[in-house]
Amino acid sequence: MVRPTDPSALSEFAVELARGAGRLAYDGRRAHFDVVTKSTPTDMVTDVDRQVEAWLIDTILRRRPDDAILGEEGGGRTGTSGVRWILDPIDGTVNFVLGIAQYAVSVAVEIDSRVQAGAVYNPEADELFTAVEGAGAFLNGRRLSGPRAVPLERAVVGTGFGYARPRRAAQATVAAALLDQVADIRRQGSASLDLCALAAGRLDAYYEVGLNPWDWSAGLLVAVEAGCAVSGLRGREPGSQMTAGTRPELAPAFFALLEQLGADDV
Ligand code: IPD
Repeated sequence: MVRPTDPSALSEFAVELARGAGRLAYDGRRAHFDVVTKSTPTDMVTDVDRQVEAWLIDTILRRRPDDAILGEEGGGRTGTSGVRWILDPIDGTVNFVLGIAQYAVSVAVEIDSRVQAGAVYNPEADELFTAVEGAGAFLNGRRLSGPRAVPLERAVVGTGFGYARPRRAAQATVAAALLDQVADIRRQGSASLDLCALAAGRLDAYYEVGLNPWDWSAGLLVAVEAGCAVSGLRGREPGSQMTAGTRPELAPAFFALLEQLGADDV
């Protein structure tokens, strides 16, 4: 059987996966769940994260056994089809544990090493963000067009902080200096939803250091397809060292300020 590698067809499957996994996470939040820690004592994972990832992988492999997978909770495999699924079963696990309605399932579809479709679903808000390369970004079917037209000093900037103490201290220094130059800062606790918030005009700009591909892959495509400029600073691609974005007109000033503050050197 020939399995399609067309981004639109795979996007439909990504939506099905994100919605199904979101339902599991939503139900899991309302039952008993266990919490353990990962890289540091504050980096949490729950058994719901692991169950949701296992369901995602099982569902993908039953339908598309030749695809590769990269999952946050260790679910990885190589494939032969040229398609790789990049999965975050619960992005915003701390929010999930605390009962803050700001977490999401993130499903990105990489085809021939490029993310070409993505779905980010917040089951608490019933908000589904989707994007297909070259075809725009949508929230529950409504097209997104990125941040407001405000100057840097009126921009509300989203960011996040790592789990390791030395990096957090350096990130706090950058954030303190930035606060003096922008309207305000938000730390919402889910990188994929931060990128989607940028796409939806709920943030004017966003930057974060130290993310992993499962945090940013789907959300970044949503932001780009909503017309945002994204960067890794100093001519680099956005990624684990730095993921930054804003509207194109604000990008030169925002990225220059982040470079000047050494935001990517923490
Ligand atoms: C985390 C969230 C958070 C970001 C962290 C991520 P997780 O993902 O996206 O906003 O600041 O760097 O690790 O651990 O909840 O999947």
